[in-house]
Amino acid sequence: MQRIPYRTIGIVGGGQLGLMLCDVARRMALKTVVLDANPQAPALRRADETVIADLFDRAGLRELCDRSDIVTFEIEHTDTGALSDFASEGRAVIAPSPAVLERIRDKALQRKTLARHDVPQPRYVLWDEPSESPPDGMAFPFVQKLRTGGYDGRGVAVLQDPASSRLQGASIAEELVDLEVELAVIVARSGDPATGETRDMRSYAPVRMDFDSSLNICTRVVAPSGVSATVERRAIAIAEAAVAAFGIVGVCAVELFVAADGRILVNELAPRPHNSGHLTIEAHATSQFEQHLRAVCGLPLGSPELLRPAVMLNLLGGAHSGLPVCRGYHELHAIPETRLHWYDKSPCAPGRKMGHITCLGDTVEEAMKRADQAEGLFALDGSSD
Ligand SMILES: Nc1ncnc2c1ncn2[C@@H]1O[C@H](COP(=O)(O)OP(=O)(O)OP(=O)(O)O)[C@@H](O)[C@H]1O
Ligand SMILES: [Mg+2]
Repeated sequence: MQRIPYRTIGIVGGGQLGLMLCDVARRMALKTVVLDANPQAPALRRADETVIADLFDRAGLRELCDRSDIVTFEIEHTDTGALSDFASEGRAVIAPSPAVLERIRDKALQRKTLARHDVPQPRYVLWDEPSESPPDGMAFPFVQKLRTGGYDGRGVAVLQDPASSRLQGASIAEELVDLEVELAVIVARSGDPATGETRDMRSYAPVRMDFDSSLNICTRVVAPSGVSATVERRAIAIAEAAVAAFGIVGVCAVELFVAADGRILVNELAPRPHNSGHLTIEAHATSQFEQHLRAVCGLPLGSPELLRPAVMLNLLGGAHSGLPVCRGYHELHAIPETRLHWYDKSPCAPGRKMGHITCLGDTVEEAMKRADQAEGLFALDGSSD
C-alpha cells in the first residue's frame, strides 16, 4: 500500500478552463492552487487554494510554484521568463515548459517552428510594422494577425483592400484560405517537460468547429466531424507532428483548416485544454481535462475514444453588458441528453463565453437537432438592474 499522493497542481489563470480542471482534479485526489488577479475569476471558487496576483507578477508566480508540485496553464499570457527561473531552481515541475509557451503565444515564432518541422500551414510573412500597402509577397485580400495577445478572433482581421482597417501592433500576414471546414484535434502527450522526451501520445478524433463569421468566434463543435476517414487520418498525423515539433507535455488543441483545394493546414496550437474539447466531458471515455492532468502528472493516458455523437454550443453574451439574465433555463432541462455548464462569470458582455451546452444523441443528426432546440429555447443577455 502507498499513501494517496495528493499532489498539488498549480494553475496559471482562473477562467473556465481552470474551473473545469479543478473539478476533475478534486475527483482524482489532486489538490489545486489557482493564480489570477481577479478574485471573482471562476476557477478561484473551485480551487483548494488561491494566489491573487497578476499573471505577470513575479512574486505571485513564485508563490504559486512554491505551493505546487506541478504547475500548468489555462492561458499562455504570463511571465514565462520568471517561470523558467523557478523551474530551474526546482520550485516546481512546469508542464508544458515555459519555453514551449513562448514559442506558441507569439504567432510568428509558432509559424517559424512549424515551418522548420515541415508542418503544413498557410503561406505567411512577417509584418512587424503594418502599413497601408501589403507586405512583400502578399496581395489583397489577406489576413492580418497580431503576433501576441489575440483571443476569440480579436487579434485577427481580414484585409480586403487598402481601405480595410488594420490592427495596431507587430503582426503576421497570411494568405486568406478558402475554407471548406475547420477541424480541431486534441493531442495528449506525456513526457519529460525538461528534456521533451515522449512517453506516450494519444489523439482524439477530429471535431468540426463552426464559426460565427462576423465575430470569427467558434459557436459550435461537432463530433464526429463528418469529414472522410482519409482526411481525419491526415489531420491527426499533421496535429501529432505539430505537437511533437514543440515538445508539448499535456493536452494541446491543434486547430486545422481543410481548404477547398484539399490542403490540410495548421491554423494554430493551444497547449492546454481548449474550447473544442469541452464535449469530451460527456462524449468521450476520458475528458480533455482529466487527460491533461494525467499527462502533466506523468500518469498513464486515458482512452480518447468517442462514446456518443455530440454537439457543443458556446453560450456567448448577447447585445448588452450587465448582470447575466437568461430565458429558457427550465425548458432547456427538458431536452434529453443535454447538459448546461455555467461558468459563473459576471458581467455578461457581448460575445463573452459565459458557459456551454453539450447535447448527445444516437447520431450526430440527433445531437444537432437537440442543439438547435437548445439554441432556440435558451438565450443570455446582460441586464442593467
Ligand atoms: N489564414 C486564414 N484564412 C482564412 N480564415 C482564417 C485565417 N486565419 C484565421 N481565420 C479565421 O479566423 C478564426 C480565428 O483565427 P485564429 O484562430 O488565428 O484566432 P484567435 O483569436 O487566436 O483564435 P481563438 O478564437 O482560437 O482564440 C479562424 O478560426 C478562422 O475562422
Ligand atoms: Mg483559433
